[in-house]
Amino acid sequence: MSRVLIIESSARQQDSVSRQLTQTFIAQWQAAHPKDQITVRDLAVNPVPHLDINLLGGWMKPADQRSDIEQVSLERSNQLTDELLAADVLVMAAPMYNFAIPSTLKAWLDHVLRAGVTFKYTETGPQGLLSGKRAYVLTARGGIYAGSTADHQEPYLRQVMGFIGIHDVTFIHAEGMNLGGDFQEKGLNQANAKLSQVA
Ligand SMILES: Cc1cc2nc3c(=O)[nH]c(=O)nc-3n(C[C@H](O)[C@H](O)[C@H](O)COP(=O)(O)O)c2cc1C
Repeated sequence: MSRVLIIESSARQQDSVSRQLTQTFIAQWQAAHPKDQITVRDLAVNPVPHLDINLLGGWMKPADQRSDIEQVSLERSNQLTDELLAADVLVMAAPMYNFAIPSTLKAWLDHVLRAGVTFKYTETGPQGLLSGKRAYVLTARGGIYAGSTADHQEPYLRQVMGFIGIHDVTFIHAEGMNLGGDFQEKGLNQANAKLSQVA
C-alpha cells in the first residue's frame, strides 16, 4: 500500500482544468492501485497562512519560550510536513497564475521546506531528506510555455522539490487553455495522453 498526497491549488472548482487532471489521475491510479490511500489537501478551499513571524518563532524557539500563537503555527507546519513525509507519491496541481504558481501553493511550500525536517544543512551544503518519493506536477496554463525561458513553474518546482530530496518528478502540462482555435483541445488531449501512461 502506498500513500498518495494530492495538492490542489486552483481557485476555480468545476471549470478548473488542473482539478480535472487530478480527478483523471485519481481515477486511473485507484483503478491500478486499489489499496493505495489517497489524501487530498485543497489549498484553495483551506489556504495555509503566509510565512510570518509566528511561524518563524514556532520553528526557532524552544518549547518553553514559544507563545500560544507560535505553538499553533508550529503545529500547523508539523501537520503539513507529517503529511508530506508520510506520502510515497506527491501529486501537485498547479494552474499558472501570473507566470508562476498560485500564492496558495507557494505558502504551502514555505511551510514544508523546513530545515531539520525536509532538508538539512551539511558540511557540503544542504541535503534533501525526502528520499524515495515520486512526484507528478499537473499544470494548466492559458498560453504555451513548456521548454521556454518564460516557464517559471517547472524550473522552480524542480528546484524546490530537488532541494528536499524529490528528484523523480514528472510534469504534465495542459497548455493553451485560454487560446482560441483547437489549441485548448490539443493541449488537453496531450496532457490526458501523458496522464494515461502514469498509473
Ligand atoms: C489570476 C489568473 C492569472 C493567470 N495568469 C496566467 C499567466 O500568467 N499565463 C498563462 O498562460 N495563463 C494565465 N492564466 C490562465 C490560467 O493559467 C488557465 O486558465 C488555467 O487553466 C488555470 O488553471 P485551472 O483551470 O486549474 O483553474 C491566469 C488565470 C488567472 C485566473
